[in-house]
Amino acid sequence: MGVLLKVAPTLTVVEGSQRELEFTTTDFERVRTLMHRHAGIALGEAKRQMVYARLARRLRALGLRRFSDYLALLDAEPGGPEWQAFVNALTTNLTAFFRERHHFELLAQHARARRGRDAPYRVWSAAASTGEEAYSAAMTLAEVYGAASARFEVAGSDIDTQVLQEAARAIYPTDRLENVALPLKKAYCLRGRGRQAGCVRIQPLLAERVRFFRFNLCSERWPKLGPFDAIFCRNVMIYFDADTQRSVLLRLAECLAPDGLLFLGHSENIQHLGTPFVAAGQTAYRLPD
Ligand SMILES: C[S@@+](CC[C@H](N)C(=O)[O-])C[C@H]1O[C@@H](n2cnc3c(N)ncnc32)[C@H](O)[C@@H]1O
Repeated sequence: MGVLLKVAPTLTVVEGSQRELEFTTTDFERVRTLMHRHAGIALGEAKRQMVYARLARRLRALGLRRFSDYLALLDAEPGGPEWQAFVNALTTNLTAFFRERHHFELLAQHARARRGRDAPYRVWSAAASTGEEAYSAAMTLAEVYGAASARFEVAGSDIDTQVLQEAARAIYPTDRLENVALPLKKAYCLRGRGRQAGCVRIQPLLAERVRFFRFNLCSERWPKLGPFDAIFCRNVMIYFDADTQRSVLLRLAECLAPDGLLFLGHSENIQHLGTPFVAAGQTAYRLPD
């Protein structure tokens, strides 16, 4: 990885093979402002190298040599196709099946307690990335209701269209399923053969219970979503500043069923934000009675 060098008050270059692209401090500040405005993501000073490396691919693909030209191109087409590529390039999509397993144990318990009612049990994975969280919820609910049951539904959304395409394919390298318990693997994962060797496909009957859509948690207007019995909004709030976190949580509260559960990531503390949520387990929350 290259080393950042300041060579003039506003000009930053990266030592090594990426030296050819001009990336000034002004460019970096502009990228930070745009990501904050459009995705709520607060990129810290330490992200300068990451921003360079990820957007450099876009500049090369477009045959550009200077970040200022790339930013001018974004300015020239507000909401145009390059905007999505810009956002996709700068999101961080790390995820895993059954990440924070205790959430899925609580989900199973919550769904079992509601097995007798008529309405389907509905889950929203609100920063779904490549889909592992949504399919983990679906496997958990399939154990309660049966894989093909119309008595549960899972929705997965993300701001990043690239990861959503991967999520909808429902095909994963085998090693990504190491957290999935063997009985669940046997029941809900199909081993790939031929060109798909080394991969598994989520069983189509189960995958049909999961749908994905693009949604920006920081959009001003939210469509009518929910009510959901459980919302997973994990490991995305860490990228937002406190005001954005608070406003997203207030919107999520409106989408949650009165006795629903909200799951957040292990490092996402919301106690100081003054939202209505009360603790309902380890990094799980509910609305007050
Ligand atoms: C680190 S991943 C977390 C994935 C999963 N929730 C988990 O905990 O394993 C964060 C995801 O949040 C998405 N994201 C970032 N900003 C967002 C926004 N404003 N609206 C919706 N999704 C966003 C990113 O694209 C990324 O896929």
